[in-house]
Amino acid sequence: MDLWFLVFVPLTIVIVISISWTHSRGAPWVPTFMKTVHKMLTMADVGPNDVVYDLGCGDGRTIITAARRYGARSVGIEIDPLRYLWCQMLITILGLRGQVKIVYGDFFNQDLSAATVVTCYLLQSTNERLQGKLMQELHPSARVVSNDFTFPRLQLHRQDTKEKIYLYHPVPAK
Ligand SMILES: C[S@@+](CC[C@H](N)C(=O)[O-])C[C@H]1O[C@@H](n2cnc3c(N)ncnc32)[C@H](O)[C@@H]1O
Repeated sequence: MDLWFLVFVPLTIVIVISISWTHSRGAPWVPTFMKTVHKMLTMADVGPNDVVYDLGCGDGRTIITAARRYGARSVGIEIDPLRYLWCQMLITILGLRGQVKIVYGDFFNQDLSAATVVTCYLLQSTNERLQGKLMQELHPSARVVSNDFTFPRLQLHRQDTKEKIYLYHPVPAK
């Protein structure tokens, strides 16, 4: 067996397990384009008074951008241990530990009530499971921004149909 095989096979197995496991918990890791991250944060009018929660923060791009470019405090919740560690490393290197917090775990089991803005890029079925929790825990004036997928029971405030970005308030749709 050559070295390439010894590296490639275990790596492929780890990647396949990671994708299917995170998919079953909410969504596999697919990063949001940076252009879309900015559109989401701009659409939600994120500023220094905000606390932005990214549900499934992946490589941390949304929470880091919210802190560095928009002056917000931010919290990322991530269930994948490797991505959680990656985010911890990144915020430490960038000196953002006072402004950005990473929580390891399942966002369905976390208290989201401190968020003024929630961002997410998940799956349609996950959004539908999540919408009751958002209505229960968030203040009605909070903003929820979703990339690609909708929250059919929440009140839609704005949308960019071309980019598929949807902005809601966590109250029942009229
Ligand atoms: C489509 S990616 C989006 C990543 C990031 N928010 C972005 O926009 O680039 C979804 C992320 O959610 C994480 N995830 C899936 N289910 C989760 C759960 N129940 N709790 C916490 N994180 C979860 C995955 O590990 C993955 O990193």
